[in-house]
Parts: sequence; structure tokens; C-alpha cells
Amino acid sequence: MIKKAEETHELTKEEIVSLLSCEIETENVVSHPLFEAADRVRKKYVGDEVHLRGLIEFSNYCKQNCLYCGFRRDNKNATRFRLSKDEIIKFAQDASEQGYKTVVLQSGEDPYFTADRMKEILSEIKKFDLAVTLSIGEKTFEEYKAYKEAGANRFLMRIETTDKALYLKLDPDMDWENRLKCLGELRELGYEVGTGCLVGLPEQTLESLADDILFFKEINADMIGIGPFIPNDNTPMKDEKGGTFEMALKVMAVTRLLLPDINIPATTAMETLNPNGRLIALQSGANVVMPNVTQGDYRKFYEIYPGKICVNDTPTKCRGCITGKINSIKRSVSTEYGFRKKTD
Ligand code: SAM
Ligand code: FES
Repeated sequence: MIKKAEETHELTKEEIVSLLSCEIETENVVSHPLFEAADRVRKKYVGDEVHLRGLIEFSNYCKQNCLYCGFRRDNKNATRFRLSKDEIIKFAQDASEQGYKTVVLQSGEDPYFTADRMKEILSEIKKFDLAVTLSIGEKTFEEYKAYKEAGANRFLMRIETTDKALYLKLDPDMDWENRLKCLGELRELGYEVGTGCLVGLPEQTLESLADDILFFKEINADMIGIGPFIPNDNTPMKDEKGGTFEMALKVMAVTRLLLPDINIPATTAMETLNPNGRLIALQSGANVVMPNVTQGDYRKFYEIYPGKICVNDTPTKCRGCITGKINSIKRSVSTEYGFRKKTD
């Protein structure tokens, strides 16, 4: 099956389920045939360079109430913050000066940041020779259009799960079909479209994870972010078991096999569960890392889940640290924007 996936980039749902159920030795994870194959496909299609995207976490206010998420509006224990326009622009400028070619602006669904405010921020940031990715949730077509016209290049919005019944339970008041519609509109507007899923949600099955992977292929996503679900004490899901690093890694590796030329980040949540998580992910199919370029205390308040890494570090330290790690596995940091180079 691994050979078939490596050669044809096609698998049936049953085959994906079977691969996801394989045992992983925790001692030497990367030497598992699944991860070795994903690493070869990564190398063949997207090369050895790692794209760094500077992450600016600009607001943790959110009008939504996702049961798993620390930003949910009912979480009264969260210390809420939003950066000023000038702070966001400054952090982007600093990131550009440090050599970043992309910044990712991420927030909860914060109504304060109207399309007009976002447009002002985007047009300033675009002066710094940066590609800009937005990760700010569900908006209207007109809003997405306004951001695009102001210079946004990419948009990340995880579908979270393709199991609609589970989505409905975990994301009350939200509408799975609308999330799908948003992804379609983003594509129509010419964005590079990123999505992804949470791994280890309660009641989530291997079949459902296989559906997620097939969904990524069906919509021909340009980027896929996969992260383990990590229970947050300030949410109704605090007592759930949470996802494992190994399962998230398997979902990621199979995604690489089926979508060989896309961008796949080694996610921060993976490093939260395993101190070498991002390096292992980079050797199992990933080719992107998103170091935090937010400065000051804001980092610790951006608490989606507990145990987030690097909360007391500076952007300079994070960049140096991740560059050293990348070089230690004989890979290099790209100096390009890192758009998807489609092979079909
Ligand atoms: N509001 C934007 C959105 O919904 O796309 C972006 C911010 S949201 C906090 C970013 C991602 O955090 C979500 O897509 C979700 O997958 C992830 N997330 C939320 N709660 C999590 C948890 N408890 N463990 C791991 N990841 C989580
Ligand atoms: Fe809004 Fe998570 S509930 S970002």
C-alpha cells in the first residue's frame, strides 16, 4: 500500500484506514516505512528547503464557541488581547528584516477587525516584500475579496473534521457547509487555500480521518495543517483524552503521499506533544514551519491549548533555534516565498 501510494498518489478509504492503524515504534519513529516514503515524496516534489512562515497572533477574541478551543467566547478565564494596527505592521516589518518571506496573520473571529481595518493593515504589510497568509476564520465573500485586493495571498482554515455530525457537536452555532463554502470562495478568489484537521477528537474514527485526507485531495488543497487535539482546561473538553503525536504524524504522512506537491507545516501542536515533534514531522513529509514572530507578553495569552511552545521566547531566538534544528537534519531554510509549485 505504501508503495502504491508513493507511486500513484492514490489510495482507497480502506487502504488509508489500514495505513493509519499500523503500529509505530516510539523509539525510532522516522524509520517507519510510512514516514520514510512520505519523506521521499516530500524530497522528490518539494525539495529539501524548508519554508518559514512568521506567525503573528494578533487577537484572541472570538465570537465562536468551539468546544475544544481556548478562544471560545464562553472561556471567561482567557486574558483577551488584540494588537494595534501599528503593532501588527511593526511585527511584520521585523519579520521581513529577519528574512521571512511570508507572514501569517492569525486570530479568533474578532469582529473588531473589519474589512476596512484589515485592508489598511494588509496594504502596509505588502510594502515589506512579504507574502501574506490569513487565518481569521469564516467571513463573507465580499470580505475575502477585499483582503485579496489589499494583497493577501493565502488563507488557512481547517475544516477541523469532515464528520459533519461531530462538527455540529463540537462547533455549536457553526455550519459545516458554510465552512466548505468559504473554502470554495477563497479558491474562486485566487487564494492559495489551506485547510486541515484536528486528530484525536472524541468519537473520531480512523474512517473519519481517512475521509478527511480524501477531502483534502478532493478539494486539491494547496496547504494542509494537521494537529493533535490537546484538551484545554478552560473548555468543556478538558477531561477528554486528546490526540497522540503518532496518529497526527500518520495522518500527515498519508496526506503527503496523496498530495505530493503541497505545502505541509510541521505544526506547533506536534512539538507540544513531543519535544522533537517538528523535526520528526519534517522528516515524515512536512516542508514548512511557522515560527512565532509575535513579540512580548501576547504570546502567552494566545493559549489555544495548554503547553504551547516558545511562549517566553523572542522572535530572534525562535528563528535561530528552528534554523539550527533544520540545518541539523541537513535541510536549509528557503529564501523564496514558497508558493505551491503544482506538478500536474
Ligand atoms: N479563527 C481561525 C479559524 O478558525 O480558522 C484561526 C484560529 S483557530 C484558534 C486555529 C486552529 O486552532 C483551529 O483551526 C483548530 O484546529 C486549532 N485548535 C483549536 N483548539 C485546539 C486544541 N484544543 N488543540 C489543538 N488545536 C486546537
Ligand atoms: Fe474561535 Fe477557536 S473558538 S478561534
